[in-house]
Amino acid sequence: MIDTHTHLYVKEFEQDRDEVVNRALNAGVDKMLLPNIDASSVENMLALEKKYPEHFFPMIGLHPTSVGDDFDEQMEVVTKQIFQRKYYGVGEIGIDLYWDKTFEGEQRAVFRTQLILAKEFRLPVSIHTRESFDIVIQIVNEELTDDLKGVFHCFTGAKEDAYRIMDTGFKMGVGGIVTFKNSGLAETLKDIPLEHLVLETDAPWLTPVPYRGKRNESSYLIYIAEHLAAAKGITVKEVEEITTENAEKLFRLDRDDD
Ligand code: NI
Repeated sequence: MIDTHTHLYVKEFEQDRDEVVNRALNAGVDKMLLPNIDASSVENMLALEKKYPEHFFPMIGLHPTSVGDDFDEQMEVVTKQIFQRKYYGVGEIGIDLYWDKTFEGEQRAVFRTQLILAKEFRLPVSIHTRESFDIVIQIVNEELTDDLKGVFHCFTGAKEDAYRIMDTGFKMGVGGIVTFKNSGLAETLKDIPLEHLVLETDAPWLTPVPYRGKRNESSYLIYIAEHLAAAKGITVKEVEEITTENAEKLFRLDRDDD
C-alpha cells in the first residue's frame, strides 16, 4: 500500500521514528509520500528520505497555514529546492480559511504560483482545502492543462464536490475521516469508482478509528483501507491494489526513470 500523504518527519515522531517506520513496513505500507510544510521542515523531511530511500518520496511546497508576511522568502526556498533535486510532487499547497483569513489574498496567489510551478516541472500536486473548496477548485480549473494532476488531500466533501474533482481528473485522498461514523464520508464514497481514490493517513493528525484521538501513523492506513472496502462492499485486497496503482502512476514512483 502507499500512504500518499504522511508527515513522519515532524517532531511528534522524534522519540520513536524508526519503530513507526517499521510498523508501517510490517503493515504493508512500503511507500510513503512526504508533503512538505515550509522552509523549516525541508531538512528533516529529506533526512528521512535519506535514511529510507526506497520507502519515502518527498514533495516540495508551502503549506497554506504557513503563508504569512515572509511568503516571498518561503517561496524562494520552494523554487530553489525544486531546481536542485528530484521531488515527487508539489505539496502541500492550497488554501485554508479556517484558522486565519488574514493572508487570504497571499494564500490564493501562492497557491496559483505553485500550481504553475507544478505544471512546469510536470509534478502532481497535493492540495489542502479547508473552508475554501469553491475557491480552490475554481483556481484549479483556471490552471487546468494536461500537465496539471494531483490529489485533493483529506477529501471530506459531499458527492457534488467529488464529481467536481472527478471532472478535473484529480484524485481524492481518503484518510481517517472515512472511519468516523458521523462524517458520512463512507456513504459519499460508496459510489465513487476506486480509480479516483488514493489512500493517506496525514499522520500524525486525523487518526482513524480505533485509535481516534491518539497520534496517527502510517501503519494505520490499513484501517482506512478496511473502512473504504466495507463502504464499497469490495475486498480490502481490491482497495489496496487499485489505490496503489493509482498512486504509483500519479506520483511516478519508479525511481529508475529519474
Ligand atoms: Ni498534511
